[in-house]
Amino acid sequence: MARNRRTNQKIQPASAYFCAQIQNMKQLVALIGAVVLTVSLVVLGFTYRQAHEQRASLLDDLQRRTALLADSFKESVRPSYLSNASATMQSLLDKFAGRERLLGLAVYDNKGGLFETSAGLSQDLTQNADVAEKAMDSDSATGDFASTDQAVYVYATPLHEDEKIIGALVVYQRADYIGQSINETWKTSLLRLLIQALLFSLAVVLILRWIIYQPIMRMAEAIRQTRTGKSAGNSAMFGHGFFKPIAAEINKMSHSLILARTAASEEARMRLEKLDSPWTAERLKEFFKAYLRDRKIFVVSNREPYAHKKVKNEIQWDVPASGMVTALEPVMEACGGLWLAHGSGSADKLTVDKDNKIQVPPDDPKYTLKRVWLTDKEVKGYYVGFANEALWPLCHLAHTRPIFRKEDWLEYRKVNGKFAQVLLAELKDVQRPVVLVQDYHFALLPAMIKHSRPDAEIGLFWHIPWPNAESFSICPWRKDILEGMLGADVIGFHTQQYCNNFFETVGKEIESLADLEKFAITHQGHTAHIKPFPISVAFNGAEDNAPEAKSELLERLDIKPKYLGLGVDRLDYTKGILERLRGIEFFFDLHPAYREQFTFLQIAPPSREGVEKYRQFNADVTAEAERINRKLETGSWKPIVLLKEHHTHGEIYPLYRAANVCLVTSLSDGMNLVAKEFVAARDDEAGVLVLSQFTGAARDLKEALVVNPYSAEETAEAIYRSLTMPESEQHRRMKKMRDTVKNYNIYRWAAEFLKALTSQG
Ligand code: G6P
Repeated sequence: MARNRRTNQKIQPASAYFCAQIQNMKQLVALIGAVVLTVSLVVLGFTYRQAHEQRASLLDDLQRRTALLADSFKESVRPSYLSNASATMQSLLDKFAGRERLLGLAVYDNKGGLFETSAGLSQDLTQNADVAEKAMDSDSATGDFASTDQAVYVYATPLHEDEKIIGALVVYQRADYIGQSINETWKTSLLRLLIQALLFSLAVVLILRWIIYQPIMRMAEAIRQTRTGKSAGNSAMFGHGFFKPIAAEINKMSHSLILARTAASEEARMRLEKLDSPWTAERLKEFFKAYLRDRKIFVVSNREPYAHKKVKNEIQWDVPASGMVTALEPVMEACGGLWLAHGSGSADKLTVDKDNKIQVPPDDPKYTLKRVWLTDKEVKGYYVGFANEALWPLCHLAHTRPIFRKEDWLEYRKVNGKFAQVLLAELKDVQRPVVLVQDYHFALLPAMIKHSRPDAEIGLFWHIPWPNAESFSICPWRKDILEGMLGADVIGFHTQQYCNNFFETVGKEIESLADLEKFAITHQGHTAHIKPFPISVAFNGAEDNAPEAKSELLERLDIKPKYLGLGVDRLDYTKGILERLRGIEFFFDLHPAYREQFTFLQIAPPSREGVEKYRQFNADVTAEAERINRKLETGSWKPIVLLKEHHTHGEIYPLYRAANVCLVTSLSDGMNLVAKEFVAARDDEAGVLVLSQFTGAARDLKEALVVNPYSAEETAEAIYRSLTMPESEQHRRMKKMRDTVKNYNIYRWAAEFLKALTSQG
């Protein structure tokens, strides 16, 4: 069982770039927006003030000019008004009215009645004598804007005879030019603002690009090259200008890193010959260079190490739950090469290039994943049918009857052939390629490849148990399967027992020459070596020893028991989950004082849902957990919390560290990497592992509490022992198990396998 090594991440290379660009664009737009907004506010503020002052000055000017005009007309019209000479008045007013922005003139009598107007003055204006009356009442000149649609300034000055007010002269001035002038000011200002905003934006883009973005990208590339060991990080790439001081520091760090890396490789090289501990990714890399020189590794498996899926409108990736992936992925990260696998993610096709390839890990590419597409019919026959309904139960002694269907077998053969074709095309120009075939999905592939490429060195690793010869003999296509496997140069199993079973099976089923001393089988002129390689986890320090945050999951679920038990398994009937739950029920029956004290958390992502048996198992586990909970729950406490979802490694890791006991009760399990991951996570050397005797891991982790999972009493007793075990004993056991996993981690497994493979023949 394996889970995400990292937290789920969005994207893959092409769209990662795209998303990064969009992100950059968003930031750029925000920055430009902020600049433009600031400039706009300043410009608008100034313009508003300017318009305000302009309006005041134009008004003042208008009033002054109107007053002057009125004063100069006043004396001229008075005689005609006194003599009531309407015609003379009319011609006078008409004469004045043509001037400048003068709209017209009118004379009112002292009762506010209109005496005479200049020609063409609208009635709307003259019928309102308010301004004239105000002037006469106050005996002083008065100005105001007409309350009509037109912008007209009305100015009235009283006419006198001696001291007596006899009427008023009203001057109507056009004032629309004031508004026009203000509008003009706004227009000019907005146009200027637009030009400024464009220039500012352009300047921001250019500054960001040339002065900030490009140097930062160059620095990031230089750091990446240094980190990945591709180059010494050319100092010219580290930047100049503003970034010179930072660049200088990074340059120094880069050189220190190179020195440290050289020293580490040197040390690793010196220890190459000895396959003892400790093994690290770095040491495997050196080993790989020394043993394989420029030869390339090709891994073939059914399950891919990274699957992409569409979640809403976003593409995300995750690491599928698979022990095979958990083990092989760190090896590929260390050695590079090409991994060929079934592209089963819903967004897999969207993320590959034209050759169906993608560089992975998606967040830090180190090797190539090439995806092979399968039709629904192929998946049904090859994967659901033959691999998981026939071979899986055939190899696991979990008392589930294998189903052998001819059509499934034909699809299985066809898909092995399909993968062989894709792989052979990749091997075309490669001399002496190293091919590592994974698991029971590809039993026929080694012979298919060997047949076309005898120079290829082919390793087959069988990640599940190999049953005894009697059990295997029920398979109708047993000979084809064995002959297919024997095309490999090395066939690896987890334990010597599985190797023995295989040896015995071949001896029983096909004509071949067995060399018991070398543990080799020669069939049709080709020799395959059979060897145990107990697979493991990375245990590479940094990740495992990282100071761990508290489990958010536990907090979210509000689980705060005194004692926490943990199970992490795909929902697979071989994992003994039902037996485990019964063991827990029995534990509570025997030790009721642990109610409300002990909670068991089972992480169980659904698996192989195309297979009826798995769907049934899923329902059975749910029903059993509910039954036990109904029986024992009190208040808000439940003895079993069942989470049937995929969880990332980042989520599971803190659980490993929080658990008092981890239960691995498989009915049959090639190795079981959950047991080793639990041990690798416990750098506090606390916690107890309860481990089924039917796992390959039970041979390595002897300090676990080993149980027969079929016995609820044994499981219950082991839980009780775990919860009451003195700390000193926990430390002693955990320390030994940690030493075992550390000494034989996945890097050593890979080195031993590669060494065995390349030193045959
Ligand atoms: C076992 C097999 C792996 C497989 C894993 C998950 O660990 O050995 O090859 O990948 O189960 O099963 P799945 O069918 O989901 O790949």
